[in-house]
Amino acid sequence: MTSTSSDLVNDFGDGEEIGSHHYRAWVGPPEYYDRIGALQFCALATLGLREHHALLDVGCGSLRGGRLSVMYLRPGNYYGIEPAAWALEDGKQAHLGDGLLAGKQPTFSNDDNYTLTTFGRQFDYVMVHSVFTHAPAVQISRCLAQAREVLHAGSVLVGTFLEGEADHVGDDWVYPWVTEYTKDTITRLVREAGLACVHLDWPHPFDQRWFLAVDPATPIDVDGLDLGSAFSYPTYLQDELEQYSGPRRSHVDYLREDLAKRAEGKRHLPR
Ligand SMILES: C[S@@+](CC[C@H](N)C(=O)[O-])C[C@H]1O[C@@H](n2cnc3c(N)ncnc32)[C@H](O)[C@@H]1O
Repeated sequence: MTSTSSDLVNDFGDGEEIGSHHYRAWVGPPEYYDRIGALQFCALATLGLREHHALLDVGCGSLRGGRLSVMYLRPGNYYGIEPAAWALEDGKQAHLGDGLLAGKQPTFSNDDNYTLTTFGRQFDYVMVHSVFTHAPAVQISRCLAQAREVLHAGSVLVGTFLEGEADHVGDDWVYPWVTEYTKDTITRLVREAGLACVHLDWPHPFDQRWFLAVDPATPIDVDGLDLGSAFSYPTYLQDELEQYSGPRRSHVDYLREDLAKRAEGKRHLPR
């Protein structure tokens, strides 16, 4: 029987087994679905994702994290790859529905060979969350080589993996069981793809490790990483400088000017 959008919206999958045929359980413990989704979006926003950026979500599953990015990004800026077509379809119905699908115009592919070039464009951010935690090394290499093709000089790939004392051996996808790699192996695989690797000491409920892969010509100094700077007051002041090339206005000055314009009838703020 086909589930309708309203069935899915109210079906949280509590108690369903990980990896089972439920759009939430498919990607992990249903009880953590909200947090792991929020975590992915927080990571991207902290690393500077803005609404005008283009994001590619590799192995986007049922849009656990993707739903928040679709909502945030400007129309046409979210792209997802997910071979489990049923999980993606259920996620689209549960989280987006026809209205958001039409309004936000996300683009999807069911490619199962990490063909990141399938969309024929580059991306500002590529998210690969909880995918290398199940992938053999040969698939990680393929994904990273493809990522190299779709990243430009300022792009960032955000990935996770499970750190182990030894590397997983095998050439097949492992699911819902997991694969582990040493940090050195992940660094090597990223470098072999022609990218630079930065490991981040960030939290993750399932102890996955975060790393970034970037163009080696524009390396990121992890110690100097200005995380969350998009939200900072200095960045606001810098924006003021760049946009108006005048004196930096404090937010109070900004408000005062805008309100004065409204009082003069020069500008109508939305009510
Ligand atoms: C643990 S889930 C993570 C889903 C999503 N990234 C998230 O964190 O919410 C792993 C996903 O990778 C997908 N997957 C499996 N093989 C893949 C492949 N070759 N390319 C892309 N995704 C794949 C699975 O179908 C599954 O949806």
